[in-house]
Amino acid sequence: MTNKFTGVLLVFSIVTFSCSQPETIDELDVKVNDLLAQMTLEEKIGQMNLYNGFWDITGPAPQEGDAAKKYADLEQGYVGAMLNIHGTENVRKIQEIAVNQSRLGIPLLFGYDIIHGYKTLSPIPLAEAASWDMEAIEMSSRVAATEASAAGINWTFAPMVDISRDARWGRVMEGGGEDPYLGAKIASARVRGFQGDDLSAANTIAACAKHFAGYGFAEAGRDYNTVDIGTITLYNEVLPPFRSAVNQGVRTIMNSFNILNGIPATGDTFLQRDILKDKWSFNGFVVSDWGSTGEMITHGYARDLAHAAALAANAGSDMDMESYAYVNHLKAQVDSGMVDIAVIDDAVKRILRVKFELGLFDDPFRYCDPEREKELLYHEEHQQAVRDMARKSMVLLKNEGNLLPLSRGRQKVAVIGALADDNNSPLGSWRISSDDSTAVTLLEGMEPYGAEITYAKGADLITGPATFLNNVPINQTDKSEFRQAVRLARRSDVVVMVLGEHGFQSGEGRSRTRLDLPGVQQELLEAVFEANQNIVLVLMNGRPLALPWAAEHVPAILETWHLGTQSGHAIAQVLFGEYNPSGKLPMSFPRSIGQVPISYNRYNTGRPDALDIVFWSTYTDEAIDPLFPFGHGLSYTNFEYSNLSVQLVDKHRVEIKVTVSNEGRVAGEEVTQLYIRDVVASVARPIKELKGFRKFHLEPGQSETIVFTLTENELGFFDAKGNFKVEPGKFQVMVGTSSAEGLSGEFTIGPVGDQP
Ligand code: NOJ
Repeated sequence: MTNKFTGVLLVFSIVTFSCSQPETIDELDVKVNDLLAQMTLEEKIGQMNLYNGFWDITGPAPQEGDAAKKYADLEQGYVGAMLNIHGTENVRKIQEIAVNQSRLGIPLLFGYDIIHGYKTLSPIPLAEAASWDMEAIEMSSRVAATEASAAGINWTFAPMVDISRDARWGRVMEGGGEDPYLGAKIASARVRGFQGDDLSAANTIAACAKHFAGYGFAEAGRDYNTVDIGTITLYNEVLPPFRSAVNQGVRTIMNSFNILNGIPATGDTFLQRDILKDKWSFNGFVVSDWGSTGEMITHGYARDLAHAAALAANAGSDMDMESYAYVNHLKAQVDSGMVDIAVIDDAVKRILRVKFELGLFDDPFRYCDPEREKELLYHEEHQQAVRDMARKSMVLLKNEGNLLPLSRGRQKVAVIGALADDNNSPLGSWRISSDDSTAVTLLEGMEPYGAEITYAKGADLITGPATFLNNVPINQTDKSEFRQAVRLARRSDVVVMVLGEHGFQSGEGRSRTRLDLPGVQQELLEAVFEANQNIVLVLMNGRPLALPWAAEHVPAILETWHLGTQSGHAIAQVLFGEYNPSGKLPMSFPRSIGQVPISYNRYNTGRPDALDIVFWSTYTDEAIDPLFPFGHGLSYTNFEYSNLSVQLVDKHRVEIKVTVSNEGRVAGEEVTQLYIRDVVASVARPIKELKGFRKFHLEPGQSETIVFTLTENELGFFDAKGNFKVEPGKFQVMVGTSSAEGLSGEFTIGPVGDQP
């Protein structure tokens, strides 16, 4: 089927290319069962095998299995899916082997890490989370799906929905931040964006919520490290975004590398069968992470690869990514009775169902139209969409004396910092599919604004080149160009300092033990400050940083994360006031590394409020609150909150109203946040939990009454056994502009058993 269409249609109308009406589950079951009945055991196990392609890798290079084996297995029908093969020509070549040469001609899935775009890159996911704008996030995933599907991909390994409170962990850039409520909303927005409402359309792809489960709680923020959390945290913090993705119909789930309470997630029956497939009735399939089946041996959980294959399959891991465990060992495990054939049949049915849903049996080459590929990659409509997303993702952390926005053409502006002239770092870490050095730099973005701009690098961030696969970049120590930067600063009205992390200092395998500005950037900042205190600090980074000196001394700080292809244009629009910043932090920014892990929704402890003797839950050398709290983000206008009203509508439904007014001189968008605290419960509850938010636009002088309704869903919590409970009693409520600032009230709900 060839479709001619414009980017507008593609981006904004996902159902346009639907080939057929989605079939009911019953019809699909018949087709799946018919096919299953024709398959040999080897062919069934083949469907459970996911091989990496022949060119790119996104994990340790496999020790076993060369290209010849992969080709031979493809011809035999012993491969169900491939990853890291992309581009219509490449995909078609491999799909042809499966479809034309294997006995049953079952088409392959082609998976890829489409994390924040295929060619056109939107901001890193943590940045997008800062928008608190679910429509924009859905659109960003839709753009990614549109380009990826045009390049032969039908399955993305996204969204990553791991909650994390530890900024040392490099993968916080890939998630939605520290909060399960916000994380759950983002999870479903992304699934909607990738999958649309018809998976068989040529511009939608299957999504994969990952990493199930607990991966974001890696001890000490070190990637792949041990996770040891209790079930209260598991049920209330870790699982809600996964549940939300499942409710949204996500077709696949990826398990995780970590052990959780001693069991590697890939071999965890409790997670994959009891919770995911039984309790939540998830009917898609579970894929292992790269080599995670084999890594159960290294964990000390499996004796050898054959044992690992049996443990993983029995635990509900349906497809094995790059361990060669299933393809080489699972048949013997079935023959010897270690794995029941029903386990295999169930896994294969799940995988085949997704292939049917994608329409691959109707047309295995549905995603392989080179014309469409040529037309859509880097499409102008996509540039506009990611620019819009980038603008919405920035967070104005501080703006003393309204130093921002800059006035066009009336100020002499010195721009300082290597990142200002960097067209690579803003692309972020997860961009294997895109092209390096394709971001608009900030200097390029500032050009059209007619300001008198001079530029000095000051210092490089790192020494030598950094790439997706090489080891962590080495920080620069050379300060020889400081002097030039200081000279420019002295001659200017205002200094825009662009500092932060290189794009490859966050991401998978890129954890840090420090949360400062890498290299000599802090020294550069202080040297420039000596010359000119009118500094706007533009931060580019993939994680929260701890910058107490900057927070105290620098008058204006704009967090821009890594904003993707259109980075420079978007930042310039905010700097010059063409766009009023509206982002809010999705993760707390600590004062010091010693506070990490840190999140707003902590528990109270028995000794929270320090008095003048020593025995309190505090630090002797630092405050316990963050430098910038979760939900914080300023605007170029002021929003005032008034008239909080809290009313019980019926026994377990509470209506909360607040008036928000734009008291400033420019229009802007505010994110009103609602937090509750269950004061006394059978399980101690956090001091605050986000339970609602609303983003809206107000003209100067305009007011709006925002109404929230809390139901049992928001008022309840999970106990240690995973039972959801709503308990009677008093609740505190806070509504405001961040997790640290707002109007408070309270309400009491009636006894359990007395429910409406
Ligand atoms: C390992 C990562 O943990 C996972 O998120 C990714 O999808 C796979 N590699 C495939 O690249």
